[in-house]
Amino acid sequence: MRLLMVCLGNICRSPLAEGIMRKKIIEHNLLWTVDSAGTSGWHAGELPDSRTIKCAKDHGIDISDQRSRQFTKADFKNFDLIFAMDESNYNDILMQAHSEEDGKKVHLLLTFADMIRTDVPDPYYGGSKSFENVFQLLDDACTDVLEKLVHEQAAMN
Ligand code: 4NP
Repeated sequence: MRLLMVCLGNICRSPLAEGIMRKKIIEHNLLWTVDSAGTSGWHAGELPDSRTIKCAKDHGIDISDQRSRQFTKADFKNFDLIFAMDESNYNDILMQAHSEEDGKKVHLLLTFADMIRTDVPDPYYGGSKSFENVFQLLDDACTDVLEKLVHEQAAMN
């Protein structure tokens, strides 16, 4: 399973989602991969925001090897599931889909995780509390997504 987390800048929400999901993948001994990207290329090549790095580190996750990159159409081919952090990211990704098959890969992360809210709030203009809130939201969502996918795979075998 190849998973891609996508937000706007790829320096706050999706790098955190990538780090959290990678930790869970390793803990479950799964041979899955996870990456992240931004719908914009505004921060391409940059490290995650220093507040994102600190928030992840506070939870024992090192994301300092990540670099921001822009989402491209090739990602539809290279990933099985593409998770958008909010509805604006979701629409921006879907606009680049070539086919129905591409479109089916795209989901709102929180909706896929059966959560009531649709959007992971952008903590970019917030304080450290907003990063912590986003961490908890992403951690819950990633737990649910991983469980769902493990069950789906088990049902197919
Ligand atoms: P992200 O947050 O999409 O969660 O990485 C943002 C980062 C940067 C900007 C906006 C959102 N920006 O406007 O530069």
